[in-house]
Amino acid sequence: MSEQPLQKFTEGLQHLQFQIIQQQFGIIGKSRQFLRALERAIKVAPTDLSVLLRGESGTGKEVFARLIHSLSNRKDYPLITVNCAAIPDTLLEAELFGYEKGAFTDAHERHRGFFEVADHGTIFLDEIAEMSPKIQAKLLRVLESGEFNRLGSTETIRVDVRVLSATNRPLEMAVQTGEFRQDLFYRLNTVQIYLPPLRERKEDIPLLAEYFARRIAQHLEIPFEGFTDEALQLLMRLPWYGNIRELRNVIETVMTIERPSIITPATLQPHLPKVLGAPGERSLPATGSVQNEFALQQQLAAIQQDLQEIKELLQHNRAAPRSLPVPATDHVSLPSLNLQELEKIAIRQALEATHWNKRKAAQLLGISPRTLYRKLAAYGLE
Ligand SMILES: Nc1ncnc2c1ncn2[C@@H]1O[C@H](COP(=O)(O)OP(=O)(O)O)[C@@H](O)[C@H]1O
Ligand SMILES: [Mg+2]
Repeated sequence: MSEQPLQKFTEGLQHLQFQIIQQQFGIIGKSRQFLRALERAIKVAPTDLSVLLRGESGTGKEVFARLIHSLSNRKDYPLITVNCAAIPDTLLEAELFGYEKGAFTDAHERHRGFFEVADHGTIFLDEIAEMSPKIQAKLLRVLESGEFNRLGSTETIRVDVRVLSATNRPLEMAVQTGEFRQDLFYRLNTVQIYLPPLRERKEDIPLLAEYFARRIAQHLEIPFEGFTDEALQLLMRLPWYGNIRELRNVIETVMTIERPSIITPATLQPHLPKVLGAPGERSLPATGSVQNEFALQQQLAAIQQDLQEIKELLQHNRAAPRSLPVPATDHVSLPSLNLQELEKIAIRQALEATHWNKRKAAQLLGISPRTLYRKLAAYGLE
């Protein structure tokens, strides 16, 4: 057999495998970026490697964690999902590692932690960036040796648990600022799967919308025929800062309330997320959404880094004159960047980061919108 038909055959098989998995797990998507993530998940599933799932909120990180577990040899053992941001620190430690009777005031009985319960299975640590340094250290130990102690116990417990984790925050930044242990980051990040935001894979929007609509139509016994092209185009124009979760909520609301047989733009309109500016325009939601914060945080970090560099430059320049000959005139050319120029740079960057949404930009800069308007006028930045 020449190589080409064989390759075609393999590709066909892979396509079929994807289809079966998508059907079985209700994981929808056809965009190149999505299929790349899916392929990675399928490949890494049967191994014991740690996987870090990344992407904005609502992009399917938890869905992928479940898929990876289900396609692994651990599928008949538990998958335990832990939201590290939702559980207070002391409780999280107790939940993860368990405790002995009397370990603390409320410890009336010995309690098995998630790591014990998940033995031979998988733990999915969601929002890993929120984990405290103390728990990070304990987690690193489990990852490296499979060992830990219950709270209030010196007995070492050994478990065989695969760890999947997820974050919507730039973890590298948390590593840089010392909030997140670098060694732990490397351990968790053996394989990384990135789930792109919906607005970067618009071709998945109609598929997902149809899928969610048909599913709920069946459930509510609505004779549903589908979307008009205009309705689908409208959906594709929206930014979906809440990604698939937001799209699903909108479709389910529309179906439940309107009970349409056909979805047109008019059916959708009252239920669409409120975004500032004209539809289709790159704009930010009126309410600060978590999803959006990811982008803002990154931009803010970039601004902070720039400011730091500028500050260093300033300090350097301030220190420099001492070793330089004193200028003959009293005209001071150093420092080359004065505070106003710094401010202008910060304002410009904040505006770019928020796509010229002044309210958001002001928030980012920590000043009132009024102050921002005044400064814009003063600096002629409008
Ligand atoms: N590829 C997908 N196909 C269908 N539904 C999806 C897909 N990805 C996510 N979802 C749905 O979107 C919602 C958010 O997914 P989730 O995995 O919780 O996102 P995240 O953990 O990234 O916030 C869930 O209701 C989930 O079932
Ligand atoms: Mg999640």
